[in-house]
Amino acid sequence: MEKVLLMFPLLILTIFSVPCNCESLYPHYYRESCPLAEEIVRQNMASVLYRDPLMAAPLLRLHFHDCFVLGCDASVLLDDTLDIVSEKQATPNKNSLRGFEVIDQIKVALEEVCPLTVSCADILALVARDAVELRGGPGWEVELGRRDSLEASFSGANQFIPAPNFTLEQLIANFNSHGLDIQDLVALSGGHTIGRSRCLSFRSRIYNPQTYEEQKYYDRSYVFRRTLSSICPESGRDNGLAPLDFKTSRRFDNQYYHNILEGKGLLESDGALVSEDPDGDVVKLVWAYALSQPLFFRDFVSSIIKMGSINVLTGDDGEIRRNCRFINL
Ligand code: HEM
Ligand SMILES: *[C@@H]1O[C@H](CO)[C@@H](O)[C@H](O)[C@H]1NC(C)=O
Repeated sequence: MEKVLLMFPLLILTIFSVPCNCESLYPHYYRESCPLAEEIVRQNMASVLYRDPLMAAPLLRLHFHDCFVLGCDASVLLDDTLDIVSEKQATPNKNSLRGFEVIDQIKVALEEVCPLTVSCADILALVARDAVELRGGPGWEVELGRRDSLEASFSGANQFIPAPNFTLEQLIANFNSHGLDIQDLVALSGGHTIGRSRCLSFRSRIYNPQTYEEQKYYDRSYVFRRTLSSICPESGRDNGLAPLDFKTSRRFDNQYYHNILEGKGLLESDGALVSEDPDGDVVKLVWAYALSQPLFFRDFVSSIIKMGSINVLTGDDGEIRRNCRFINL
């Protein structure tokens, strides 16, 4: 009892000495400064996706490619200028990333109502949430308050975005380097429940089965691979598109995990989650998400919120861009 009493003042002290974390992100950041911000993004997203449901996937991917290079600071949106070498030309992005005009359209709408207030990095985070939710996935409160970078990193985009032929070990190491763990890796890979990939990115998966374990999965999916080879021959047609989730590519659901358990993930990196360490923790998570969509949704939400806070700029760092493609003059 005495011990407890002695510790009490100490506890109080610890609580009050925690430094004010004023600079972290929080929901409804624009409540005062731009109360309609989230509504404006949502309405634009609803009309864009109504016209073109396939747009949801590239818009979700933009937030990921932003956060993995210099942090979630809209560096991915900058165009080439005299001072900027755009990330858009880097290998993972070139001829592949899209949706930039949608971001422009939303930014224009926001500038009309509240000029120089809502950052492009926050737009990407809101757009990712709306893309997921409007395709049948979970919704969540987006933490906001990011500011926009004054720079881009072409070399960073080549270096820090995982490649489709990464091994499981490389995927885990890449995610770790961004402060993300294996649960984040497995949950966020579920982003491949929507969207498409170019032949260029999955050709090796069809024609070069590498390990014995992989071979075993390939044999079970022979017909699947034969179908893919018509879209993606051994050479040529680099830009031919195939759905990442061959069953329900327009729905944000947990079908992706069923697919990879059947050896029918499109990318090597998708297959790697189950084939490389068949008894490991990663496969256990894949099974858990395949068996429970609510669990997948819950973990996807907590991982994308975590991803959305990687190296954010707050306070006086960076700026609020007027046009997402250029830093302000
Ligand atoms: C785990 C490591 C990852 C790798 C290796 C990877 C790789 C790729 C590749 C190669 C493509 C196809 C690009 C092309 O057309 O060539 C793609 C597409 C896509 N990725 Fe990932 N990705 C990963 C994680 C993620 C994450 C974390 C998300 C979001 C949560 C995501 C969302 C998407 C989406 C939505 C598409 C489809 C884009 C479209 O339809 O245009 N990916 N990814
Ligand atoms: C992935 O492909 C790149 C480019 O073709 C190659 O340089 C690299 O060695 C490959 N990585 C793995 C793990 O196979």
